[in-house]
Amino acid sequence: MDKLRTENHEQKVRLGVIGFNRGKGFLEIAANQFENVIPAAICDLDPEKQRIARESFPETPVFASLDDMLEQATLDALIVETPANYHAEICAKTLAAGIHVMSDVPCVDSVEEGELLFAAVKTAQPIYMSGANPNFRPTTEALLDVYERGLLGKVYYVETEYVHDLRSLYESSPWRIKYPPIKYCTHSLGPILEVINEDFEQVSCFGTGSHILNLPGQHDVMSALLRTKSNVVTRLMVSFVNNYNFDGSHLIRIFGTEGSALIHPVTGEFKLFSNKSFIKHSCNPDMSLDILKTLPRYANRPESHYHGGTDYALIERFLTAIRTGAPSPVPVEKALRMCLPGIFALTSAEKGGELTRIKYPWN
Ligand SMILES: NC(=O)c1ccc[n+]([C@@H]2O[C@H](COP(=O)([O-])OP(=O)(O)OC[C@H]3O[C@@H](n4cnc5c(N)ncnc54)[C@H](O)[C@@H]3O)[C@@H](O)[C@H]2O)c1
Repeated sequence: MDKLRTENHEQKVRLGVIGFNRGKGFLEIAANQFENVIPAAICDLDPEKQRIARESFPETPVFASLDDMLEQATLDALIVETPANYHAEICAKTLAAGIHVMSDVPCVDSVEEGELLFAAVKTAQPIYMSGANPNFRPTTEALLDVYERGLLGKVYYVETEYVHDLRSLYESSPWRIKYPPIKYCTHSLGPILEVINEDFEQVSCFGTGSHILNLPGQHDVMSALLRTKSNVVTRLMVSFVNNYNFDGSHLIRIFGTEGSALIHPVTGEFKLFSNKSFIKHSCNPDMSLDILKTLPRYANRPESHYHGGTDYALIERFLTAIRTGAPSPVPVEKALRMCLPGIFALTSAEKGGELTRIKYPWN
């Protein structure tokens, strides 16, 4: 199968990755499936990951530290796949070295890191792109389409959930054990912010603590209520330890002034009811849109079923922006809007659910 060609695909992109777990898949897709992408450097702290990197990419230099990589490798772009608490520092240093960055979600792990990242991006020439793959899911495309056609009217209330029992990943990904689930909110908030069109300003949040494993500091489930200035309310729930096995891992319910939607992003189920639709029948008052699970452009390529092909979409958009000079497909403001509410939600939970103001570096 021919490699995928972005606009200006003749331009070579020397690409590195830091964090060689999820980063391995990204480098494989970028180098093997896209024209003129050179795997130019790999960095991981872990000697075992370095060994795997040498085995997978024998021609590519492998480093144990970001500083060594930035000093010794020649890179046009870097994909950042470390745990979130390293993202801001890695992105800031890499951008300052004149290298484009795509960094996975959550974009930062604290308010201070949000300020650092924002300042770094605003003073840098290269592109910063957030790897917010759910924003490119087939169901997100469909949501935007029905919203832009006016079928939902003004969105005023949303429920969004991410329920995923991650205990099987504790050994390979130890940061997940105590990671407060509400901070992993970008998958849930990214798509819905596209139809809310306003920042969240206030949050109140509770966590259950650890009922299943009895681990101090762990929460099985955390649930937050978020509010915008014009009183659009969202209930956000995230659980990473559970025995809940019904709905697939993501769920979105949208209430609009003209309609509503019930979406399961992973399975592609999308139910729509709209006062503005002419397609109505007394026996079938809502419409079930048949949304593909995988973006059709990538459907026949390796691992494209994973995340609905959205990892391909991220790479394609990142390469295109680099090669054309177009603005970042997911800029830092968007990244922080879908990430900081979870960080402030945790602060609220730590204060017994206290109503907490969400602050962004730009105001
Ligand atoms: N968008 C998605 O759908 C999605 C899915 C899974 C994970 N993620 C995100 O992707 C990122 C990576 O997730 P993962 O599951 O691969 O995590 P992981 O913990 O399994 O792997 C992270 C790797 O980074 C390495 N590392 C840690 N700190 C480093 C540093 N300072 N310098 C160099 N290497 C370092 C570790 O040794 C490890 O190999 C995380 O930010 C996570 O939140 C996103």
